[in-house]
Amino acid sequence: MAQHLPRLSDFGFFWRLGMGLLVVCLVGGYVVSGVYLKQHYENRDEQPGLTFTDIQGAYAGANVPSPMLGALERGHPDDLAVADREALVRWLTSDSVRADYENFELGEEMPADIIAISCLECHSRSSAADVKASPMLDYPDDVFANAESKEILPKDPKVLVASIHAHLPAMATCSIALALLAGMSRWPRAVVGVLVTATAVGLIGDFGGQWLARTQGPGWTWAIVVGGFFASGGVGLLGLLALAEAWLPRFGKPEPADADDLD
Ligand code: HEC
Repeated sequence: MAQHLPRLSDFGFFWRLGMGLLVVCLVGGYVVSGVYLKQHYENRDEQPGLTFTDIQGAYAGANVPSPMLGALERGHPDDLAVADREALVRWLTSDSVRADYENFELGEEMPADIIAISCLECHSRSSAADVKASPMLDYPDDVFANAESKEILPKDPKVLVASIHAHLPAMATCSIALALLAGMSRWPRAVVGVLVTATAVGLIGDFGGQWLARTQGPGWTWAIVVGGFFASGGVGLLGLLALAEAWLPRFGKPEPADADDLD
């Protein structure tokens, strides 16, 4: 006969209350970490929100192409004269985006003029509300922010090692604690087991991906994203199972048989 773990609901009221609150703190801490990650990384590519490029940029580095060049090459705006489009593309692909923006020597090809005539109708703070479109292009800084392509430099490998050495053991410890608590429950062992394995594989994918993205190439960013999803989702679900065991009234088979139900 195998030894059985006690169940959380066997413990006294204050133990279940205190342990439940600690689980809430732990899972809440993960949620705050998610908010922190979003704040910390979301602005790398200048696109709103946390994007794949933000994460790739942080770990593997990324090149964010010029949004204006992209728009022009897609044929936007559709009524732009061919000569103006070519002039803007030539300017955007040159090494002198800032210097030539208001370079009068370019005559009719001066980018500031083409933009004022062909773009500001819609891309200005003073555009009519029904045509106003982001990004704003009124001022040189607006234009440069959208004209230049950007290199996002990845973390220094030393910073990465420092981060992994602090986070991986801490997150593994949290996951082990919740795995034990969720194992001491009424929930089917197979369900808890699959969750624990998904959390562990996710953690390995997340942290392995951080290193591989930095050293082997940006494709490994997917391991960070998918692994992080499973590692944090698993912790959240294991926490929920533990809380439910501690706080929901017991149900199912009568008490004396409980010990044999665990397998
Ligand atoms: C008639 C209105 C209009 C004119 C003129 C216009 N645009 Fe736009 N532009 C839009 C709209 C609408 C969008 C979509 C914005 C959105 O979805 O928020 C857009 C989007 C863009 C974007 C963002 C696209 C992206 O993929 O990030 C850029 C850059 C842009 N325009 C550049 C220009 C430039 C440069 C010119 C002038 C050569 C220009 N636009 C002229 C209406 C206009």
